[in-house]
Amino acid sequence: MKKKRVGVLISGTGSNMKALVAAGRAEGSPFEICCVVSNKPDAGGIAWARENGIATHVISHKDYATREEFDAALNLYLKSQNLDLIACAGFMRIMTPTLISPWQGRMVNIHPSLLPNYKGLHTHERVIADGGTSHGCTVHYVTTELDDGPIIAQAFVPVLPGDSPDLLAARVLVEEHKLYPEALAKVAREI
Ligand code: GRF
Repeated sequence: MKKKRVGVLISGTGSNMKALVAAGRAEGSPFEICCVVSNKPDAGGIAWARENGIATHVISHKDYATREEFDAALNLYLKSQNLDLIACAGFMRIMTPTLISPWQGRMVNIHPSLLPNYKGLHTHERVIADGGTSHGCTVHYVTTELDDGPIIAQAFVPVLPGDSPDLLAARVLVEEHKLYPEALAKVAREI
């Protein structure tokens, strides 16, 4: 089976992106990471991807007057790469329908909570502040509603007594790195 071509969108460290690259390079993987795109020129993940032989593209949102113009320019690049799927991995942008609609059903995201709980930012802080005991991460399809698309897979992480947001985030991230490659493989086999 021909591997599905995946583009990854990042804004930062890109540890999930690295997990996807490693999984995609494994024999028998139904997908491969073909390009990594960042809206931040100094994103650590971009330098890593370049050093690891993956096509990279930096497109700064600061160069565009509106979200729609940025999204249209980003989408032009994505379309030029002949991609089957888009994986958002710490891409810290609110995306408009201009970017999302052309990829409906083919764009996925990882979110650090058990959706539908804790949409948005600062999920680890919020679950601790609420005294919650159940946390985790979710891979879901991207729709025009923020953090709201159909769920593909979830991993549970308990909140432990004495947890700080950083401790909890680190434990969730370990699960993210396992969950995202599995979920993306499932999607890649199905499309
Ligand atoms: C992850 O926690 C992801 O769930 C969230 O942003 C973080 C990105 O981390 N959307 P990294 O850049 O993949 O290390």
